[in-house]
Amino acid sequence: MRGRLPGANDVGVSRGAWRAGDRERHLSSHRSGGRVGAVVERRVPRWSEFSELIRPRRLTGDATDRRLARAATIPDLREIARRTVPRAVFDYTDGAAGAEISYRRSREAFERVEFCPSVLRDVSAVDPSTSVLGARSALPLVLAPTGFTRLMHTEGEPSVARVAEQAGLVYGLSTMGTTSPEALAAAAPGGRRWFQLYLWRDREASEQVVERARAAGFEALVLTVDTPVAGPRLRDVRNGFTIPPALTLRTVANAARHPRWWLDLLTTEPLEFAALSSWGGTIGELVDKVFEPAATLADVAGLRERWPGKLVVKGVQSAEDARAVVDAGADAVVVSNHGGRQLDRAPVPLEQLPAVVHAVGDRAEVYVDGGVLDGGDVVAAVALGARAVLVGRAYLYGLMAGGERGVARAVDILAAEIARTMQLLGVASVAELTPQRARLRA
Ligand SMILES: Cc1cc2nc3c(=O)[nH]c(=O)nc-3n(C[C@H](O)[C@H](O)[C@H](O)COP(=O)(O)O)c2cc1C
Repeated sequence: MRGRLPGANDVGVSRGAWRAGDRERHLSSHRSGGRVGAVVERRVPRWSEFSELIRPRRLTGDATDRRLARAATIPDLREIARRTVPRAVFDYTDGAAGAEISYRRSREAFERVEFCPSVLRDVSAVDPSTSVLGARSALPLVLAPTGFTRLMHTEGEPSVARVAEQAGLVYGLSTMGTTSPEALAAAAPGGRRWFQLYLWRDREASEQVVERARAAGFEALVLTVDTPVAGPRLRDVRNGFTIPPALTLRTVANAARHPRWWLDLLTTEPLEFAALSSWGGTIGELVDKVFEPAATLADVAGLRERWPGKLVVKGVQSAEDARAVVDAGADAVVVSNHGGRQLDRAPVPLEQLPAVVHAVGDRAEVYVDGGVLDGGDVVAAVALGARAVLVGRAYLYGLMAGGERGVARAVDILAAEIARTMQLLGVASVAELTPQRARLRA
């Protein structure tokens, strides 16, 4: 308490000008209900007291380090990201489909969570680790597959994979990722990696990419099934967003405000897609090539026969479909509406979760995603039955805000929030996160 000025909460604890008799006068003014300012004697502040309050912060690291260190939450990282990258890139990442109702509802569901804590439990040490597909994960968290990641920052997927490796988490590389499976494996050889697959119209090309993922040591295939066609991303339409970004008059004007991002784009390796060694077509052609509107359950069963590793089906939105894909051989399902980027007004994953968990029982693991921006969201989803939670935007905001360091900051923030929420809930391990610990308010 050294050197603090007297205030309403620390009567009598400071030194110096707080003189005998002041305390009695201060209290009597409270007792009589009078205004404190009316009776407390004032004086001229002394420089010696003032100077103790001035503590210039030592500048450590570069501007990015300092910006990231000041971010206390994922929304803080989002705000830094918004200022750092061109608007079209931020909107591509942050946006959702249609009127973005699916995404908003996912967020609202997390806001409706009410925790049920127990007190007087020993939570001096908490263990937030769990088992995901038979191996340890340091947190009940998976870094979700996201397309075009090198657009957000040239450090792209390899940086996300390195952070995941360091943190003991799984990372999923997208078919639409901008790093090849081989390059990703080389970037984080000790990390756990899953390969996300869209069923291609061209089955032969699809099989080739699956084979490349297998050879590069990807332990699981994540088949995304909520994408028979691309969702209507209206922000992208309005921004005239293309991949690679086109230098139109408007983007050049915007580039003047984000020269660093454009410099990085133009002076580093051209974007390469995970699945296609070289791609000369437009984004529309790419989407047409990799999305298969005629995919059925038989494709899941076929993949199950060919793929020797674990099979995860991502984008399941009902208990009935979850049961069907598990019957077809899935080891895990992700209750997901693609972060609200596909069908607008889709079911809310957190609300679907308990029914899906009930439907598949212990035959498969159940994960959930969409709108997770806080470690408390992760804890709530686990309590409501998820084995783990996937995050996309949360780490992409970090990536846009500061490359690999930003991704690491995002994971640190989430990890600290998960541990603190568990402690405040009175639970020391993930096994204690049962449905009794969280409910959704009406
Ligand atoms: C920019 C971006 C790109 C994405 N690309 C893919 C993708 O290529 N394949 C896929 O299965 N899911 C993709 N997703 C969905 C994520 O895997 C995940 O389901 C979603 O991000 C979860 O919601 P959240 O971003 O609110 O955490 C993408 C999400 C974002 C934000």
